[in-house]
Amino acid sequence: MKLFLDSVDLEVINSLSKTGLIDGITTNPSLIASSGMNFLETIKKICDLVDGPVSAEVTATDFKSMLLEGQKLSKISSNVVIKVPLTKDGLKACKAFSKQGIRVNVTLCFSTAQALLAAKAGATFISPFIGRLDDLGADGINLIAEIVEIYNNFNFQTEILAASIRSVQDVVDSAKLGADIATIPPKIFEGMFLHPLTNKGLESFLADWSKTGQSIL
Ligand code: E4P
Repeated sequence: MKLFLDSVDLEVINSLSKTGLIDGITTNPSLIASSGMNFLETIKKICDLVDGPVSAEVTATDFKSMLLEGQKLSKISSNVVIKVPLTKDGLKACKAFSKQGIRVNVTLCFSTAQALLAAKAGATFISPFIGRLDDLGADGINLIAEIVEIYNNFNFQTEILAASIRSVQDVVDSAKLGADIATIPPKIFEGMFLHPLTNKGLESFLADWSKTGQSIL
């Protein structure tokens, strides 16, 4: 399973990428807005920091303007994946981009029917939002299960990018179901490293080691 960071924080992206465990980055207009940074410059900087796909979202809502925005964004770097919303115009744009060999991440997917349409439109990635469904009392993880099932039925090549992740368990559940990727807020990525027994075990191993008086180096 690939792990993407859902972030525009350059320092955090730089530092966590150094683990060698981050396969790509997703961004969205809200993350850019809350950072106060310039969108195009930030996407360029992120692309300079990571090797994998970097999703940059169009903000136009009509087909023609989406094409223009997407073309501009895709010129920033070969890493850029154009993110379009799951609307009729968004999927038209997805189809047009995929015909040109431009990779597309279809975002704001909340139903299996929407995911089916995105695959037919040639999406490289479909982003089902787990957390926002859970917030409404719906079952976000079940959406992942249904998409995995229908994509397998027809051998669609669209990769399932579990998004709106709220917990380490969301990552694990997505992985168990066979989602190709999870895009994770940095705090949750940090949480994946942790287990109290790891700390406790390490403390006791080190305490015992120090009694030996030995050194490896
Ligand atoms: C993914 O591409 C989205 O940017 C992200 O996962 C949305 O997460 P949120 O629902 O926590 O805002």
